[in-house]
Amino acid sequence: MVYYSAGDMNDTHSIKYIFLLVLSTVLFGSCQKEEGRLKWDTSINGDQRSLVMPDDVVVKYTAYEKVHYVSRVVDSAYQYLNIYVPHNLREENPPILFKTYTAGYMASKAKAPSATDATGYALAEGYVVCVAGCRGWNSTVDDFYNGRAPEAILDLKAAVRYLHANDSIMPGDANRIIASGTSAGGAMVALLGSSANHSDYALPLSLMGAADAKDDVWAVVSYCPITNLENSDMAYEWLFSITNDVRGLTDRQSYLSGQLASMFPLYLESQGVSEENMEKWMRNSILNAAFKATREGQVIPPEIGVVVADSTVNLHKFIHYIAGAQPLKTPPAFDAQNVVSKRGTFENKLFGTSDGKDANFTEFSMLNQLDGSKTLSEEVRWRVRLMNPMNYIGKNQSLCRHWYIRYGTLDRDTSFPTVLLLKHKLNVLGVDVNFAFQWGEAHNGDYKLNELFDWLSKISNK
Ligand code: DHB
Repeated sequence: MVYYSAGDMNDTHSIKYIFLLVLSTVLFGSCQKEEGRLKWDTSINGDQRSLVMPDDVVVKYTAYEKVHYVSRVVDSAYQYLNIYVPHNLREENPPILFKTYTAGYMASKAKAPSATDATGYALAEGYVVCVAGCRGWNSTVDDFYNGRAPEAILDLKAAVRYLHANDSIMPGDANRIIASGTSAGGAMVALLGSSANHSDYALPLSLMGAADAKDDVWAVVSYCPITNLENSDMAYEWLFSITNDVRGLTDRQSYLSGQLASMFPLYLESQGVSEENMEKWMRNSILNAAFKATREGQVIPPEIGVVVADSTVNLHKFIHYIAGAQPLKTPPAFDAQNVVSKRGTFENKLFGTSDGKDANFTEFSMLNQLDGSKTLSEEVRWRVRLMNPMNYIGKNQSLCRHWYIRYGTLDRDTSFPTVLLLKHKLNVLGVDVNFAFQWGEAHNGDYKLNELFDWLSKISNK
């Protein structure tokens, strides 16, 4: 798909859509023929391999690799999945751990299982593992950036569709797909869990030759999701601007920080949340993490603002403690200034153009841009919408029912309110959310895997 620079799409937007609709009708017949190519090949034996786990247990498994999940492959370096089947299955047709390694919203290959992350642990526990590659903002073929948003989520949805389409002839139970990722990957799996089968994605998926199947996942495992991108600049400054005295900002950055922070309460209100409640949730989540760490033998020095004995959190002190542990992002944290000179963030690249330019994607940063267009195009708005799980939770019947969300108390890649709002939106709908802050953890994933797999085994046995 071709993406235009922000601002030049207003007139061409509807023409593009009419064109895509006609194209999809023409292609429909050929799509049906191409479905045959998306069939799991039952005649392939796979490779016999083994993995030595940290406790020296050897896990034997069969590997099936490089299975293309769309019939029109644009980038063969990424658009395929790998399947790994342990010899010791936990049940005849076990759940499938579906792992994405995407990070920084970059392209990611479908790697082999690792003994030190959830893929190795899942094999050892007898789950089938699927690792899906996907394009990202940096994937190119002939200088064409083919993975700008929303292509990565389309790839992952196409991979999930492949599993559903072939469920009766493939190892593993596609009705129990556990989508797992960290950071940008954590955001992607949250999007898989919230926007499954939604009509917004139907046309692009059919154009790329994805299987004509559902794309639901049964569980989401999301570590430190960099999500809700169009609202996270405000959340970030609302939380971290109290440290501006030691943040070393320029006058302009301080101004932007203040503006963003002051806009966040309105957004919170739109989500049915007061500032007081958000502060209470932050204190409770930090305290729960501290209690658990204390039970596990850690000593928490009271001067960082958390006094376990009194069950108190001084947010001002604790946020200063986080900011002191590593430099914060400068405002706006996600939709940066100066994107014209390609010095944008991962997110500016994600929403950038297929000729490699970065782009703004929020109203605020667009308006505050010192040069270039001040208008956010309909096309960029549409792409931003497709990348945010918050737009689908509560508006989509296929919402995933089981969520496991973790965020480190030392993480500053996004902010506490962003993940707490995701949790809140899910809680309101009554789905199963296993949520916790992890004491002392920064921007990481796949820790405390025993806790994850205890939970997975509970929900699998229900
Ligand atoms: C990731 C980290 C970031 O700080 C960010 O803005 C986007 C993605 C990551 O680690 O995936």
